[in-house]
Amino acid sequence: MQINRNFLDLKDSYLFATVGRKTAEYKKAHPEKDVIRLSIGDVTRPLAPAVVEAMHRAVDEMSRRETFKGYGPDQTCYGYEALLSSIAGSYARKGVTLDFGEIFISDGAKSDCGNILDLFSSENVVLLPDPVYPAYADANVMAGRKIIYADANEANGFLPMPNERVKADIIYICSPNNPTGAAYTREQLKVWVDYAKAQDAVLLYDAAYEYFVTDSSLARSIYEVEGAKDCAIEICSYSKTAGFTGVRCGYTIVPKALVRGGESLNRLWARRQSTKFNGVSYVTQIGAAAVFSAEGERQISENIAYYRENAKIIGDTLDRLGIWYTGGKNSPYIWLKCPSGMSSWEFFDYLLENANVVGTPGSGFGKNGEGFFRLTAFGTEENTREACRRISELLQK
Ligand code: MLT
Repeated sequence: MQINRNFLDLKDSYLFATVGRKTAEYKKAHPEKDVIRLSIGDVTRPLAPAVVEAMHRAVDEMSRRETFKGYGPDQTCYGYEALLSSIAGSYARKGVTLDFGEIFISDGAKSDCGNILDLFSSENVVLLPDPVYPAYADANVMAGRKIIYADANEANGFLPMPNERVKADIIYICSPNNPTGAAYTREQLKVWVDYAKAQDAVLLYDAAYEYFVTDSSLARSIYEVEGAKDCAIEICSYSKTAGFTGVRCGYTIVPKALVRGGESLNRLWARRQSTKFNGVSYVTQIGAAAVFSAEGERQISENIAYYRENAKIIGDTLDRLGIWYTGGKNSPYIWLKCPSGMSSWEFFDYLLENANVVGTPGSGFGKNGEGFFRLTAFGTEENTREACRRISELLQK
């Protein structure tokens, strides 16, 4: 037998696993230190009460023979109507009409960012921004696909635009971006949509951070851009919107108008999901359905406001220190330039050892991330303030 040797082309460990290991080693060597993690984008606010109540009700339904549920409805790839209708309603408020058959419930964005590749030949060329969320790159390395990069840097505000001389088949865009926090305007996304169509390519649009957008010129869905339904798949998650990192629920939109190689990608994805997936639990789906209820939306907005305030605390600290950064305004991530010309890992060690604060080294997201560093606003306010106090004290010296 032969193993998939493409795995040997991956780095030894996933970026956040490396950061986690280094942090654990430091803590083991210095158990007395109070280490603050502003590294992986994991949420700290508990679930909204409306979500918790809905989940309790769903558990009660599962406990009675009359209302018990087994597998979800197979007509909709196991998506329950309550959740499909809630998602369609949230898109309608963005001016986007979706048919229930275009919404596929998932266990979060990360899985489908990789799973969706089942629809495409491994001969396709993938275009990724650099720096990039490592899950997109790694999933394509595993499949042996050729990856090319669009440079994101200080000069273009970490928002690269397409070069029509470059041929690509699969294009990943994450906006607001992980890791840089930069976000495209609708006009910029229209250029990407036109480029994808001219190339007969498919845009894979990761909207996991859409709920952080406040600026009205920025899109919260690729489908706000005219013509996107016949070239784009949107992948989204409740993780950052509603604190579901530990609950696991998301959705992928594959429009019925999206046809490549003469085939409906919606039909192929439904076929793939019915073979390889058995859906998300009823209790989780009913909890997620409550996210966009009037009460749920009010409550999750309070949580988002809390994280926004953390982002502001970090941004204000960097402003005072005269450190260049992007993000933090329509995004929970702050992407800063390492001070004194330090490399990303040098700054990681410097902050960990001298301020006991953990962030994510920019170089872990690609070569253009070298010399940059990511902080997350998903910590508690108390930890964020304390981390900023320590960073100020350290860097002012
Ligand atoms: C991150 O820190 O980049 C994210 O939390 C990773 C993820 O969403 O999988």
